Amino acid sequence: MAGRLDGKVAIVTGAGSSSEGIGNGKATAILFAREGAKVLLVDMFEERVAETAAHIAKEGGEASIFVADVTSSDQCEQMVATAVERYGRLDILDNNVGISIRADVTEVSEEQWDHIMNVNVKSIMLSCKFAIPAMRNTGGGAIINISSMAGLRANSSAPYTTSKAAVIGITKSLAGDHGADGIRANCIAPGLIYGPMVAPRMDERLRGDRMHAAPLGTEGTGWDVGYAALFLASDEARWITGVTLPVDAGLLVTTPVTYNRLDQQKL
Ligand SMILES: NC(=O)c1ccc[n+]([C@@H]2O[C@H](COP(=O)([O-])OP(=O)(O)OC[C@H]3O[C@@H](n4cnc5c(N)ncnc54)[C@H](O)[C@@H]3O)[C@@H](O)[C@H]2O)c1
Repeated sequence: MAGRLDGKVAIVTGAGSSSEGIGNGKATAILFAREGAKVLLVDMFEERVAETAAHIAKEGGEASIFVADVTSSDQCEQMVATAVERYGRLDILDNNVGISIRADVTEVSEEQWDHIMNVNVKSIMLSCKFAIPAMRNTGGGAIINISSMAGLRANSSAPYTTSKAAVIGITKSLAGDHGADGIRANCIAPGLIYGPMVAPRMDERLRGDRMHAAPLGTEGTGWDVGYAALFLASDEARWITGVTLPVDAGLLVTTPVTYNRLDQQKL
């Protein structure tokens, strides 16, 4: 059976996992390769993407590593050039890199604010700046940006929420500006995913509370985000651009009062 991404070349940024396990970027890269894409695995830390590359190689997929900091314009340019040099074209860009801190505006320093904006937002502008001309050369492509439910509602972190709302904004601009070139741009807003990004800060009680916060009452993983990215990257989504797809077990259709069972008991 043909793979859903056969013949396509993809870049996944943040394709490693920041701690043990399989996060959004790693799962996405594995699924892209499983469906036939050749994948350039990008991360600041070589040992992290090496694990992803080993996983893909074991499954018989095709992927290679590129170590880069996606807040650097030069490194983003080299990243796109490397994908084209190694694989001959670029069809898919999954902008997964993102970091968070917990702080309101009275607590966050200017340096922290600028750092979050650079990593979560500027990186997308830079990678797209170089990826879009490469995609145009072959008649189009698909960009997937990873936002968060925190980009749609407050989440105890003003810098993170602001940056993730900006990810939704830049996605709409990309969709509007480059649709005529055959380039689609869509956004995923993950909910309370349990994965390497949050696991080190979590005890079992909080893990359970997060799991039961949304109507489906089950735990989300990097694979849930990866499968959404796979759909948006594939030709199955050929008529979908500019949207934000929540992957959140229904969290966004509820309200904090009704979704948190522990809070409900206190009412
Ligand atoms: N896990 C969740 O609950 C959750 C929820 C909503 C949104 N998200 C979003 O998902 C994305 C990441 O998910 P993940 O599970 O892959 O996280 P992760 O932390 O496991 O992996 C992210 C990878 O990005 C790399 N990275 C960080 N800064 C970089 C930079 N400047 N240049 C290159 N690489 C860099 C890290 O080394 C890491 O390997 C982020 O955009 C995050 O905001 C996560």
